[in-house]
Amino acid sequence: MTRRGRASIQFLDVGSGLPTVRNTHQVAQEINPKAKVVYVDHDPIVLAHGQALLAKNEGTVVVTADIRDPADLLAHSHVAGLLDFDRPIGLILAAVVHHLLDEEDPTGLVETYKRRLAPGSYLLMTHFCSSTSVARGLESVLRRAPGRGQLRSMARIAAFFDGLEMVEPGVVYLPYWHPDEPVTGPLGIAGLLCAGGVGRKPREA
Ligand SMILES: C[S@@+](CC[C@H](N)C(=O)[O-])C[C@H]1O[C@@H](n2cnc3c(N)ncnc32)[C@H](O)[C@@H]1O
Repeated sequence: MTRRGRASIQFLDVGSGLPTVRNTHQVAQEINPKAKVVYVDHDPIVLAHGQALLAKNEGTVVVTADIRDPADLLAHSHVAGLLDFDRPIGLILAAVVHHLLDEEDPTGLVETYKRRLAPGSYLLMTHFCSSTSVARGLESVLRRAPGRGQLRSMARIAAFFDGLEMVEPGVVYLPYWHPDEPVTGPLGIAGLLCAGGVGRKPREA
């Protein structure tokens, strides 16, 4: 099939943050010009910057919504209007779930999003990891700041992917995720700060 004839690929990027360089839609549309991307953030400043950046990009929208309210987020006219949930979607939860406290049921929330995805969809998640004392110290800073949050163990981060088929190398510290150069020597504090992975929803799920 030619590049032009390909069906569109689609992404839901929740907690997308402010636009930066090589945003999700730019990378996706380089590969497939018909790629559709919905950016979601609860910060309205993201909407303002995103609208300016995306003014002429038909395949991309920015939505203000809260990850803690999946029913509202998924029913948003731009989400439901641009994305086809009967087809595989790439759900991106990059550095956002650690902003949810345990009492907000992050596991249940992620499960709700996973359930909504068609088989063949992918979940990408990155999350602050509590494996070092320096990282655990960061949590007390996060708890005091407006961007409050909670670090979690590698096992708890891996559990967010339950029921998915993990893409190699599984849930790892980010420097080990398909590095451009081989990682030599032990990771420093920065390298141990964040873990993540990619999982695929199986056909039979
Ligand atoms: C650390 S930034 C990550 C940005 C981007 N995903 C990245 O990896 O570079 C976290 C983002 O999540 C957003 N966020 C935090 N809590 C959220 C919530 N409850 N619902 C939606 N977005 C949220 C913040 O506004 C912020 O833009």
